[in-house]
Amino acid sequence: MVARTPQGVIGCDNRLPWRLRSDLKRFRALTLHHAVIMGRKTFESIGKPLPKRENIVVSRASSLGVDGVTVCPDIATALRHADAWSLANGRDRVFVIGGEALFTALQDAVDCVHLTEVEADIPGDVFFRMAFPPAEWRASVPERVARSEDDEFGSVYRRFDRIEPRRRTQGAAA
Ligand SMILES: NC(=O)c1ccc[n+]([C@@H]2O[C@H](COP(=O)([O-])OP(=O)(O)OC[C@H]3O[C@@H](n4cnc5c(N)ncnc54)[C@H](OP(=O)(O)O)[C@@H]3O)[C@@H](O)[C@H]2O)c1
Repeated sequence: MVARTPQGVIGCDNRLPWRLRSDLKRFRALTLHHAVIMGRKTFESIGKPLPKRENIVVSRASSLGVDGVTVCPDIATALRHADAWSLANGRDRVFVIGGEALFTALQDAVDCVHLTEVEADIPGDVFFRMAFPPAEWRASVPERVARSEDDEFGSVYRRFDRIEPRRRTQGAAA
């Protein structure tokens, strides 16, 4: 799941540079009761485990110990844990929720991308510019959310599904 501006900005000063309540609500609804995998910086940015989800944080720092979080030393271990947890809990998908390091590492492995395009021209220091060529990806009908009291900017949400899904074996990155 990723939100970005047309310039590809996804973050600034280790936080989201916008306030979009509608997107947070969608994020919660989609990820609830599933495993979510994130990089250590994204976890620090969120500040606490996301409730009612299996929080998996990737970090090379073995000393990182936080209650309510499973810390994995690499992405393959994180995927193995996410698969095992999902199997045991009857879930058929795992969400990669950022940041750029994780999105980039897994962009060739994922079959589905939930993309929110934030209609903002703002500076940032972290970018993600993955493209979705129509020959490879099927896009859903766009859902436009207007700027409002709750949403600092307008946005457009689309789900992209890979036309030829990857055949990932459990725990493998691709
Ligand atoms: N707009 C969005 O959709 C969205 C979503 C999430 C986050 N963000 C933003 O993205 C930014 C953070 O992204 P980021 O790329 O800087 O950081 P990140 O991906 O959240 O975390 C990077 C850290 O994860 C660990 N890591 C990454 N790859 C690893 C690997 N292959 N093996 C082991 N550990 C690995 C390392 O932790 P250690 O240094 O501890 O080893 C690394 O420093 C923030 O601004 C955040 O707000 C945006």
